[in-house]
Amino acid sequence: MAHGRRTRNPPRPVVGIAGLGYMGLATALAFAHRRVPTVGYDIRPELRQRLRSGRSLIYEKGLLPLLRSEVRSHRFGVVDGWTELVRQATVIFLCLPSPRGPTGRIDLGPIEQGVRELGGALRGGTEFRLVVMKSTVVPGTTESIVRPLLEQVAGRDSATLGVASNPEFLAEGSMVHDALDPERIVVGVSGTREARLLRSVYRDFPSPLVVLTPTEAELVKYSSNAFLALKVTFANEISRVAERVGGDIDRVMDGVGRDSRVGPKFLSAGPGFGGSCFEKDVAALTERARELGVPVPLLGQLVPANGAQTRHAADLVREAVGGLEGTSIALLGLAFKAGTDDVRESRAVPIAEELVRAGATLRVHDPAALDNFRTIWGQREPGGPDGLVFCTTVEEALDQADAAVIQAAWPAYRRWLPRWSRLMRRPLVVDLRRALPERLRHRGDFEWVGLGVGRAGEGTQAPARGPVP
Ligand code: UGA
Repeated sequence: MAHGRRTRNPPRPVVGIAGLGYMGLATALAFAHRRVPTVGYDIRPELRQRLRSGRSLIYEKGLLPLLRSEVRSHRFGVVDGWTELVRQATVIFLCLPSPRGPTGRIDLGPIEQGVRELGGALRGGTEFRLVVMKSTVVPGTTESIVRPLLEQVAGRDSATLGVASNPEFLAEGSMVHDALDPERIVVGVSGTREARLLRSVYRDFPSPLVVLTPTEAELVKYSSNAFLALKVTFANEISRVAERVGGDIDRVMDGVGRDSRVGPKFLSAGPGFGGSCFEKDVAALTERARELGVPVPLLGQLVPANGAQTRHAADLVREAVGGLEGTSIALLGLAFKAGTDDVRESRAVPIAEELVRAGATLRVHDPAALDNFRTIWGQREPGGPDGLVFCTTVEEALDQADAAVIQAAWPAYRRWLPRWSRLMRRPLVVDLRRALPERLRHRGDFEWVGLGVGRAGEGTQAPARGPVP
């Protein structure tokens, strides 16, 4: 380079995002925020219309202000079809749903449909395009299903059409943060051109890029979720021991997690993991291993072990109340965790069913997920227990209740007001997340029972003495 000339980064390729659900939208806005021109497309016309005017369909912390600022900056725009997406964008990320299918396998229907439409739009083009699989798909899918289907429909080959994998690690409730500032970016590529393009779109992200093959990248995604689910399940099992021997699971796990080989995160015991990812991904990985003839006994136990913890949570409520027949229980927190309106696989569903089946009337509340919960509760298989009272305030849920059960640790519940205790027939809080801070637990205006917390003198047994040598 000639002396004195300033180095300048070449302009970034335009990014296209196909599918503007939770993950697609957060990803699109993160690119836009990092100064990458981004266009998005979704098959739902009303969603496209809302997004254009800076309104979103989902509740996610920080998403709305980011959407508004990136729409205003014109770095994020919404197009009305695949053809326009392909015309404008060089790197196209597929953020399409991969729901659970029968037998634990994922249902590739929505992805195959999207790939077909994208392939049709790519037909006849000569400029290089890179299609990146962001949806969670079992290892091997990008190379053995997506690439051949796309090449066949588009009538193009790797000379002008690249295919790569780039799994996402966004957690609901912290999606915006996770998308803007990921701990690592994993890309799976089979050529240098693909790697170069992905490096270029991620240039301004402050995160290390881990470059693997597409199949390895897909396996990283599944392994990460399975490992996190394993950590949670491990903490849940130890929490049951802590209840019996006496002790507080959070203090125990703090002691365990300070070992950097273990790490402190995802050791918070609760009613079992929920959400759209852990169970689905563990089941899909287990099923894929089974198809390949690979024994994975540990993975195979995770979902049943999680179910056992949910049943334990319901038992804890039954024991604390002392029989549920004819009682009124306030179930607080219906989302699969605090900070989201998402109720997919929420433990609130099996817990509510169990409590109603045992004879309780339930008064349910959530600051964000009440409507979504009403919808999935109504969509359950016929024949299940019914009869919930949907409450729009905590006070309404607590009115004359025999106990309050905290299923999701929303900040609103953590400050437990003395007048809330006075509203209840019996001021008893069964805290499945240990959401209430320690100083409130002993305030005296209510009785507190925490999952994973052994009560002094109850069930606490001295260890059996071995023979003295
Ligand atoms: C999870 C992963 O954390 C993300 O990295 C991943 O990208 C995402 O799945 C996905 O595959 O799309 P998410 O399901 O949004 O994210 O939520 P998590 O925060 O992982 O929580 C999952 C479940 O585990 C929740 O029910 C939560 O309450 C429970 N959990 C989590 C615990 O019970 N204890 C913990 O210590 C942590």
